Amino acid sequence: MDRSDNYDSNKFIDLARKAADERSLNIGRPLTYHVTTFGCQMNARDSEKLRGILEEIGYQPSDIEDADLVVYNTCSVRENANLKVYGRLGVLNGYKKKNPRMKIALCGCMMQEETVVEKLRESYRFVDLVFGTHNIYKFAEYIYEILCEDGLHVHIEKDSPVIYEELPKKRTYAFKSGINIMFGCNNFCSYCIVPYVRGREKSRDPHDIIREIEELAADGVVEVMLLGQNVNSYGRGLEGEPTFAQLLRDVNEISGIERIRFMTSHPKDLSDELIDAMAECDKVCDHLHLPLQSGSSRLLADMNRHYDKESYLGLVEKIRSRIPDITLTTDIIVGYPGETEEDFLDTMDVVRRVEYDSAFTFLYSKRTGTPAATRDDQIEEAVAKERFNRLLALVQELGHKRSERFTGRTMDVLVEEINRQDESLVTGRLTNNSVVHFPGDESDIGHIVSVKLSQCMGFYYLGERV
Ligand code: SAH
Ligand code: SF4
Ligand code: F3S
Repeated sequence: MDRSDNYDSNKFIDLARKAADERSLNIGRPLTYHVTTFGCQMNARDSEKLRGILEEIGYQPSDIEDADLVVYNTCSVRENANLKVYGRLGVLNGYKKKNPRMKIALCGCMMQEETVVEKLRESYRFVDLVFGTHNIYKFAEYIYEILCEDGLHVHIEKDSPVIYEELPKKRTYAFKSGINIMFGCNNFCSYCIVPYVRGREKSRDPHDIIREIEELAADGVVEVMLLGQNVNSYGRGLEGEPTFAQLLRDVNEISGIERIRFMTSHPKDLSDELIDAMAECDKVCDHLHLPLQSGSSRLLADMNRHYDKESYLGLVEKIRSRIPDITLTTDIIVGYPGETEEDFLDTMDVVRRVEYDSAFTFLYSKRTGTPAATRDDQIEEAVAKERFNRLLALVQELGHKRSERFTGRTMDVLVEEINRQDESLVTGRLTNNSVVHFPGDESDIGHIVSVKLSQCMGFYYLGERV
């Protein structure tokens, strides 16, 4: 993969820093920023890059109302996500009226939709900067621009020809971090907007990934989450075609790293080699997120998912026989165009047979530009909602039952924070990602503690240190 080594982001960080220094001299304090993130882990990681660049320029974090620069990193996977952003923009306009120095920047997946940018140009003139998912590495250049010249600046690119490696990052957590291993998606599931807003799939060079994780480990990170829309196809197009399984084994060797997670695994590309690597690598967490989308083979074919009900169930059986304790979670869409009661019962059947530990359930949302949106057999909202409620009830019932299986056991908990309701408790996660609360203090944060899970409260546990 060609790397964009000839773009000098540092040059623009320097220019923006000079412009920001001038401003802050005038107002007698440093400039401030606030970044709000919508959507998935990819966006969360992108926001860490945005914060990294902002802090290099000299901006300091603040409340949204007082910020000199507000950034919304948007998601467009479902229509609700877009509506939420428009709603928040109304509120931001109010803040900006009280604080006219405020600049507003919008970026992320939603900005890659042409109709969104048109709407912003027409009806949201108080926005200062719009940029897309392919040019985050030029953020400093854009900040420099808006500091020098008022008005709306729009920078959207159709795809990224390169992967830009050298960007500062400001981590949300000291002890855990997401790492992009690939960008974009080539799968074109019929309902999904991601391939259109994130561009074609590109894997990062394994050496760059390993180097980044080594640096993170040296900086105190113990848990990494390897990120890609379909990590199972990692390495395609790279020299030597490295596989995701190989990458997992290499990350497993990095000292200081204790836990390895990854998101997301497409069932069509989940290899035996990967199941072996998961079983054999001691740091890889006992958790697999394996999106089902639908249990109906007919709908799965229409969705362009390249697996069917039987092959999915077969895959689950194979994984469970190799890694018996594994926690399985999933994503399911209800109300896909043409979904019959029979199709839906197939979904219920798979859920009952797999017994997921938990599942994200979504009402199908029509995304303009995707093949499924052009279908004339869209499902009535009331029908979809009724099915959704039935599915949710089943998912919750099975989830409760599944989590009971760990009650009474002593397991490792990575402590993440002080409990938000009760300061005498800390909150952490098991390797299967379940939440555990137990007595502790600040000094436990970022450490792995052995905890007896004394009580299962449905979706979380109460425990005691052993
Ligand atoms: N790359 C991941 C998914 C990313 S989007 C994968 O293939 O598993 C996260 C989830 O959003 C998807 O798994 C799907 O369940 C849901 N989703 C995507 N498009 C949707 C749509 N148009 N309506 C409802 N849910 C959708
Ligand atoms: Fe969307 Fe499918 Fe790509 Fe996942 S694999 S991001 S659901 S197109
Ligand atoms: Fe949303 Fe973009 Fe992620 S559409 S789910 S933020 S890749």
